[in-house]
Amino acid sequence: MTRIVTSPKLQDAYTDALPGSRALFERARRLFPDAVTHDTRRMQPFPLYVDRADGALKWDVDGRRYVDFWMGHGALLFGHNPAHVRDAVREQMMKGTHYGACHAGEVEWGEWVCRLVPSAERVRFTASGTEATHMALRLARAFTGKRHVVKFAGHFHGWHEGVEIGVHPPYDAEPEAGQLAEVVALVSVLPPNDIAAVRERLAKGDVAAVILEPTGGHFGAVPAPASFVAALREETRRAGVLLVFDEVVTGFRVAPGGAQEKLGVTPDLTTLAKILAGGLPGGAVVGREDVLAYLATKPDPEQNRRSKISHHGTFNANPLSAAAGVAMLAAVADGQAIRFADAQAAKLRHAMTEVLAREKVAWRIYGESSDWKIFFGADTPPRDGADQSVREVDWRRLDARHAAQSRALRQALILNGVDFNGSRALVGTCHTDEIVAETVAAFEGAVRAMKDEGLAAP
Ligand SMILES: Cc1ncc(COP(=O)(O)O)c(C=O)c1O
Repeated sequence: MTRIVTSPKLQDAYTDALPGSRALFERARRLFPDAVTHDTRRMQPFPLYVDRADGALKWDVDGRRYVDFWMGHGALLFGHNPAHVRDAVREQMMKGTHYGACHAGEVEWGEWVCRLVPSAERVRFTASGTEATHMALRLARAFTGKRHVVKFAGHFHGWHEGVEIGVHPPYDAEPEAGQLAEVVALVSVLPPNDIAAVRERLAKGDVAAVILEPTGGHFGAVPAPASFVAALREETRRAGVLLVFDEVVTGFRVAPGGAQEKLGVTPDLTTLAKILAGGLPGGAVVGREDVLAYLATKPDPEQNRRSKISHHGTFNANPLSAAAGVAMLAAVADGQAIRFADAQAAKLRHAMTEVLAREKVAWRIYGESSDWKIFFGADTPPRDGADQSVREVDWRRLDARHAAQSRALRQALILNGVDFNGSRALVGTCHTDEIVAETVAAFEGAVRAMKDEGLAAP
């Protein structure tokens, strides 16, 4: 087990402990903006560079070992390199990585998706979740003939022009650098979980789609009540607006059929990625046959021009992602892995809450599925492991960034042998009881280090 560090000088300790990562960072900063290839991998004073991973663990370039709670940004449910996925990919690799042709693997993959996801009458594979939400909105506009889209503050749907709007505080729908104001103007950012605001906006009659993360923004960092999602279904149906569930994270994670299965609410369109492709790149838009028909070629060229969306993509349903996806979905189908990951996450949340109560630190650990999240803005110490009072917190406070604490906790946890993104963690079947105990001990060490730094107040 990794040594428990409680240094008052976290940043210095971090810098001293990771010389290999620091050296790579020095090279990377001459290559990449911010020295990274994904915004959330930015880290002060420099990010961790990982050399290999297996199960719940990963090792950095200095040979230090970590319990991993990134889980491939949510793409992994069985941890790193589960044998069934690895073997399927290896076997496919020997048969070729790209045929430039249709193949049996994509058919099998599509069949698994339709078997598991309640709303999936038709499937179109993409290369990422961002591409999937992009396509979903194209489809909704084509189908309804309307131009506007409703999304919710704090909900993330990828980085493309049409949805990277109102994701972070102050949530205003102002164009980012280079983003077209005309596109942003077509997106209404509404407060989350406010059905009256939705009703009022849909009444204008110009909305093609409402898109949301069905368990709440950032995988339920601000939880969406089931009653809100059900009401949204009713309002959109009544208004003739398509309801799009972005299940890029929740798909195959909160239930084999995703949040729509868990909530018993059927959207018109669903976007999928992450677990869908078994840890390899891939995404999909799935849903009503009559809506996905806009991807199908029509016999008459003139009709085609009006009702066909062109869609290419070199890596759509590529054989490797299909092989990984089939192996993953087949293993998820009976729900057992999901239930186990949920149970391990609940144990973590319970034990970490107890640490906070013991240490008299006023943060909250919360989450409802295979995850644990941390809310730094609490006013009072948590009561016990079942404390759900975070649901009563105003959504703006819950979604707010606590950059200094988040960064320090991440550093402190890395020094104690655990890596997560600073505010949210994903749990898999690889997080056994032993790993849970190790994580809780590391968390205790990290919380004490934070207290020493004056960053964890009672
Ligand atoms: C809810 C949600 N939608 C869409 C995306 C974008 O997916 P990708 O990173 O595959 O483009 C993400 C990525 O984290 C996500 O969390």
